[in-house]
Amino acid sequence: MKLLEVNDLEVKFATPEGHVVAVNKLNFSLDKGQTLGIVGESGSGKSQTAFALMGLLAKNGQITGSAKFEGQEILNLPEQQLNHIRAEQIAMIFQDPMTSLNPYMKVGAQLMEVLIKHKGMSKQEAFNHSVRMLDAVKMPEAHKRMSMYPHEFSGGMRQRVMIAMALLCQPKLLIADEPTTALDVTVQAQIMALLNELKADFGTSIIMITHDLGVVAGICDSVLVMYAGRTMEYGQVRDIFYQPTHPYTQGLLKAIPRLDSQDATLPTIAGNPPNLLRLPPGCPFQERCEFVDAQCQQTAPDLTEFAPGRLRACFHPSVNANAGSDS
Ligand SMILES: Nc1ncnc2c1ncn2[C@@H]1O[C@H](COP(=O)(O)OP(=O)(O)OP(=O)(O)O)[C@@H](O)[C@H]1O
Ligand SMILES: [Mg+2]
Repeated sequence: MKLLEVNDLEVKFATPEGHVVAVNKLNFSLDKGQTLGIVGESGSGKSQTAFALMGLLAKNGQITGSAKFEGQEILNLPEQQLNHIRAEQIAMIFQDPMTSLNPYMKVGAQLMEVLIKHKGMSKQEAFNHSVRMLDAVKMPEAHKRMSMYPHEFSGGMRQRVMIAMALLCQPKLLIADEPTTALDVTVQAQIMALLNELKADFGTSIIMITHDLGVVAGICDSVLVMYAGRTMEYGQVRDIFYQPTHPYTQGLLKAIPRLDSQDATLPTIAGNPPNLLRLPPGCPFQERCEFVDAQCQQTAPDLTEFAPGRLRACFHPSVNANAGSDS
């Protein structure tokens, strides 16, 4: 059985100007111990996909489709069941650690609270386990840090606290929503290395959300490339990297920042993502695509499996191998 199986997931928002389909018929699955990357520019629907799975959608949002976690449907569950799943089965790390840390509470107390509430631990047990968890995320002087407040930590250290908190109850699935965007490149790399290690140690499956395809290279097994709520390309990470076929994927690959490069002027994909309220008929990427023709402007290409396990939605895929490694 798959750990997570998502079918035709759709997230729609009611707004005064009309309906916005933020996530459009998404299909993906995840095996135990595997890592899936969800990649796309700002506004492509990555966070709303995660929020839908976690039951954290805004009030004007509506979810359809199915998401089965170990065979159990988790979409639109009542709050009580969700709370149980959220702490003990699926955990999430947010882009900004301060959204889930209480600024007025010592970090140790916040960690211990989770264990006391969800695992029924005594104070002493919870303290010891929290220190062990801080050690596991390579927090220097873990014991001493327990009595510090979130603002006394650096950004990278706060993100480590968040990871420790997310892994406290040993969830089977960790959803990491841009966990390193707020950090500088060196600290980003350290956090990614840490997640990779923890994934091996704890056997946790991960959904890694990012706008940077470079981030997924070292950690993901498969990748879903999203644009305007839809899947543009989906497959194994090595295929996406060495043989990207969708023009959008190729554009993202060219925009990967490099640790070894001093050049701050990365090529970005010209233009901006479309307004979801005024999507053109046809392919959502048409306005920015160099291969656009009349067919693309009239009909949205279906997502089709063009090789085993490889899917894409494009009428004019190019087979420009390895757009990502020429430097
Ligand atoms: N409550 C809401 N009402 C209406 N539209 C919304 C609401 N929440 C999100 N959206 C829209 O859904 C779309 C997808 O948003 P989402 O947050 O998933 O993007 P994202 O891929 O996570 O982007 P980023 O990289 O900036 O975090 C956006 O166009 C956003 O404006
Ligand atoms: Mg987001």
